[in-house]
Amino acid sequence: MRQQIYSIATASLLAVVLAATGCGGEEKDAATPKADAPVTPAVSQTQIVNGRNTFLRTCAACHGTDAKGMPNNGKDLTASEFVKSQTDEQLLQYVIQGREVPGGVSMPPRGGFPEDQLTDDQIRDVIAYLRRFPGNRP
Ligand code: HEC
Repeated sequence: MRQQIYSIATASLLAVVLAATGCGGEEKDAATPKADAPVTPAVSQTQIVNGRNTFLRTCAACHGTDAKGMPNNGKDLTASEFVKSQTDEQLLQYVIQGREVPGGVSMPPRGGFPEDQLTDDQIRDVIAYLRRFPGNRP
């Protein structure tokens, strides 16, 4: 019985992750990097699921629930040359600071949320989620 609950829980977690990544054939298995792939810190599925939930709560209003951006608002975050060019740490600093766009629409610091509603660790989860999109990988 307990066993059964675990496998149902695992299956639904997997379903959520697959849905989150819009997983198609292009999704390479991140768990089995090639021998010469750069070593990156392990990212857990929990982190990605949390990241997606935080994204929906704090970023989706401007970047869209599918993260593909909105007209005259948040940019596409599924295939961004900028995201691609930044390390995770640089992206964290970017989201904390935002980007002032004179005469245009700015990216507010921390998406406009106070730190107790959007912590650095929660932003790290969002970054892990965004990295799942192949267009955002260096
Ligand atoms: C109030 C609206 C708003 C919210 C909320 C918001 N953003 Fe943005 N974001 C923007 C806008 C507008 C831009 C584009 C700024 C520009 O034109 O350079 C942007 C740009 C970005 C970029 C740079 C993309 C690129 O290709 O240059 C990243 C990364 C980003 N946002 C991440 C996030 C994350 C992560 C969150 C949630 C924690 C978030 N944003 C929440 C409005 C928002």
